[in-house]
Amino acid sequence: MSVGPRVRIPITKPVFGPEELLAVQKPLESGWVVQGPYVKAFEDRFAAFTGAPHAVAATSCTTALHLAVAALGVKPGDEVIVPAFTWVSTPNVVEYMGARPVFCDIDLRTFNLDVDRIEELITTRTVGIIPVHLFGLCADMDAVRRLAGRHGLWMVEDAACGFGARIDGRHCGTFGTLGCFSFHPRKAITTGEGGMITASDNRLATLLASLRDHGATRSDLARHQAKGAFALADYPRLGFNFRMTDIQGALGCAQMDRADWVLAGRARVARAYDERLAHVEWLARPVVPERYTHGYQSYVCLFAPQPPTLNTCGDLHDRRNALMAEMEAAGVATRQGTHAPVLLDYYRDRYAIDPSMFPNAVLADRLSVSLPLYPQMTDDEIEIVCASLTAARVA
Ligand SMILES: Cc1ncc(COP(=O)(O)O)c(C=O)c1O
Repeated sequence: MSVGPRVRIPITKPVFGPEELLAVQKPLESGWVVQGPYVKAFEDRFAAFTGAPHAVAATSCTTALHLAVAALGVKPGDEVIVPAFTWVSTPNVVEYMGARPVFCDIDLRTFNLDVDRIEELITTRTVGIIPVHLFGLCADMDAVRRLAGRHGLWMVEDAACGFGARIDGRHCGTFGTLGCFSFHPRKAITTGEGGMITASDNRLATLLASLRDHGATRSDLARHQAKGAFALADYPRLGFNFRMTDIQGALGCAQMDRADWVLAGRARVARAYDERLAHVEWLARPVVPERYTHGYQSYVCLFAPQPPTLNTCGDLHDRRNALMAEMEAAGVATRQGTHAPVLLDYYRDRYAIDPSMFPNAVLADRLSVSLPLYPQMTDDEIEIVCASLTAARVA
């Protein structure tokens, strides 16, 4: 992460060591740098880690989501339910297919879909739901699965932040029809940019692998390894070039070697924040429902010195920003959790959206505060973050 000159504690830091340096050297030495054996090894490692029968790598979570909705045949006229508080990629991939994202408000305690609001949004045009496991906490997948089953909808889990997120020990990305992960440096493990799709259906996994590779019937590696390598594959469908490089695949394998340590380190920092900030009444800390394991992609709180409502939101937003500015001046980076696409001009204009229809998404956009979190964070660094937060004049 690039950090400002005064920032002593950045919002995150990827964990790279000699193992990663050695890993990226290997494809460079072999000369095979496009999608190949290391991407395949990374996919196998990822499938084993999550318990998904198949994993298909892509260039980002955005392209993974795009491939997912393309493979599911989303088309103009279709509607897909997405949370109103999520990174803009989630609705964007629905737009890319000419379909309509239908926004659903969130639960302010979990920042995830308010599952009690989904059913009223389902119409005869609804084809699927994209639940997001925001900041590393699974959405209420029991409820989403029940609704999807009742209405015959597919589910694409946006698990961009979901590495390590589980319900009853079951990893996210294995609840829905497909799951999409991100390896951007803000995520628990990183390949620079990168994404992965988990699937249980063999036919869908094969289709996804073809779609990411221009619609090819076999990969370049398979072609080069077989006799008659001069013959191109067939291209029976409209595909994309969303192939991960083997340099990233090798990096991903090295990151998988650290996965357990990374997740344990993130949980350690989160526990320390939980303990040290328990007395800070004006800050709503992340909740972890029973049976859920939080992956702690981020530690996102809600700034709430008084009950947050749309009426108090403007004033609270200014005060939250003052808090973040004070922390920045003390050398501590913070960020808002993510944004509410219903507040972005593109979506407001296109669908004449009145954001006040999504009060919790608006409040989360305006009042969330994400604290620094990386597994190598020291106790001293945690102390500096907590001290800068509690020293701020928020009243
Ligand atoms: C919920 C969510 N979905 C999708 C994405 C897109 O991921 P990527 O940057 O890998 O395209 C992000 C990125 O932060 C995200 O938070």
